Amino acid sequence: MLTRELLAAAAHRLAEAGVASPEFDARELLAHVLGTTRPQLALLDETGDGPARAFEALVARRAAREPLQHLTGSAAFRHVELAVGPGVFVPRPETEVLAGWAIDRARDVLAGGRRPVVVDLCTGSGALALSVATEVPGADVHAVELDERAHGWAERNLSGSGVELRHGDMTDAFGDLDGTVDVVVCNPPYIPLEAYESVAAEARDHDPDLALWSGQDGLDAMRVLEGVASRLLRPGGVVGAEHADVQGESAPAVFSGTGRWSDVRDHRDLAGRPRFVTARLAR
Ligand SMILES: C[S@@+](CC[C@H](N)C(=O)[O-])C[C@H]1O[C@@H](n2cnc3c(N)ncnc32)[C@H](O)[C@@H]1O
Repeated sequence: MLTRELLAAAAHRLAEAGVASPEFDARELLAHVLGTTRPQLALLDETGDGPARAFEALVARRAAREPLQHLTGSAAFRHVELAVGPGVFVPRPETEVLAGWAIDRARDVLAGGRRPVVVDLCTGSGALALSVATEVPGADVHAVELDERAHGWAERNLSGSGVELRHGDMTDAFGDLDGTVDVVVCNPPYIPLEAYESVAAEARDHDPDLALWSGQDGLDAMRVLEGVASRLLRPGGVVGAEHADVQGESAPAVFSGTGRWSDVRDHRDLAGRPRFVTARLAR
């Protein structure tokens, strides 16, 4: 079959199904089936019958709104690739800015002559912890995940990275690190229950519930995180936490309302939407 026609038909089918980036997804799936890269597809005039059938089966699953990354088994995040699939939250590009903030803060500590201690609460696939460990080789990185299946994916992704991974609830995690941590980073569950209808099918039907929802206003986990970060951080240590774009004022208020924090600031993602709050533990 002509590769060009195969891709055009697939993109059309995905667009009809409401997939947000139909051409990209079609090319990514064909490259996956053929064991090549998207740019290399331009060199392939024809696709054999076997690969074409395998491709069409994946396109049908994507049209039923299975996440692209579940079909390819992998998600790119900054400079790393994470294995993902059923049972774990697919890391999102908007979280890369929060990762960059945590990396910069860890580098600041290193520049001051100390080995930074970084904790990723709610690690999921391990995306944030692995990025910090990869980009700041001198850091001591710790991560925790509550969900058993997600923890299994994190174990796989963090193996050999030097990150210390624990299985449990962030609420009482890392008591042995109390008062010693330089940077706490977290992408907690934060979608308000009332936003259920507006969430894309890929997330609602395939990301684990524990990764998405967090009480009526979506800030239950943020309130827990505020307390945990204040326990873990050394005086002057910093916390950065992702939130929904509608929480650009309510998420910072969780921190400024307790009187424990200075420099409470909200930050935007690459699309210009409010995305994460940072704060410094008062000395
Ligand atoms: C939005 S996902 C983020 C995953 C990953 N950090 C990322 O950015 O891709 C939130 C994760 O927090 C985990 N989680 C939820 N509540 C938790 C808790 N109390 N303690 C530890 N992990 C928790 C969920 O299972 C899920 O994996």
